Amino acid sequence: MSLFITFEGGEGGGKSVQAKALYRKLSKMDVPVLLTHEPGGTPFGRRIGRWLKWAQDTDISPLTELMLFNASRAQLVAEVIKPALKSGRVVISDRYADSTTVYQGYGRGLDLAMVKAVNKAATQGLTPDLTVLLDAPVEVCFARKGTEKRDRFEQEAVAFHNKVREGYLKLASEEPQRWLVVDASQSKAKIAEIIWQRVSRLLASQGG
Ligand SMILES: Nc1ncnc2c1ncn2[C@@H]1O[C@H](COP(=O)(O)OP(=O)(O)O)[C@@H](O)[C@H]1O
Ligand SMILES: [Mg+2]
Repeated sequence: MSLFITFEGGEGGGKSVQAKALYRKLSKMDVPVLLTHEPGGTPFGRRIGRWLKWAQDTDISPLTELMLFNASRAQLVAEVIKPALKSGRVVISDRYADSTTVYQGYGRGLDLAMVKAVNKAATQGLTPDLTVLLDAPVEVCFARKGTEKRDRFEQEAVAFHNKVREGYLKLASEEPQRWLVVDASQSKAKIAEIIWQRVSRLLASQGG
């Protein structure tokens, strides 16, 4: 068995909450599972992620963002995700390549074909079996974030976040078999239940 599941969506949609809930559920069932996240997930990736999110008083061009997210991703795929899948684990990632297609492509306006080509190089072509999109209006998601300090992306204008939301919905509509679009304004428990329905079916179909 090997299953690669990613969580996507804008800030505050509940990706981290749901990724952890799924991880705990599978762990309790003694399913071998690994939880990781982007940017980060490796010591090198964490350093890059810190620059990308918190760099101050300096410009990071969209193209540089594309390359840095993919540098972190290339390391994560090679060092963590591929070996875990090879050893038969379920791998859950809180964000993955679709985040770059959406934030640097739809959000920053980089050429989509180029973004996808760079993503493909960094991931060695590894695509998720299932991608959960936690979708809700930007205002709903932002209201949840509270007063935490906002990183470079969270500080972007509402227009940027709306482009991100539209980008995700477009990707999901282009590949409906891979994406599970969930209304993220529902309760945490309800969302977890919807995700579990799909994941348990995938596990059963793999004989797990
Ligand atoms: N379905 C939900 N309903 C209400 N609040 C939620 C829900 N899901 C997550 N939250 C809360 O919203 C905040 C952001 O959730 P988080 O999982 O960190 O979002 P993300 O990782 O997508 O940015 C947290 O305080 C979390 O407890
Ligand atoms: Mg999160």
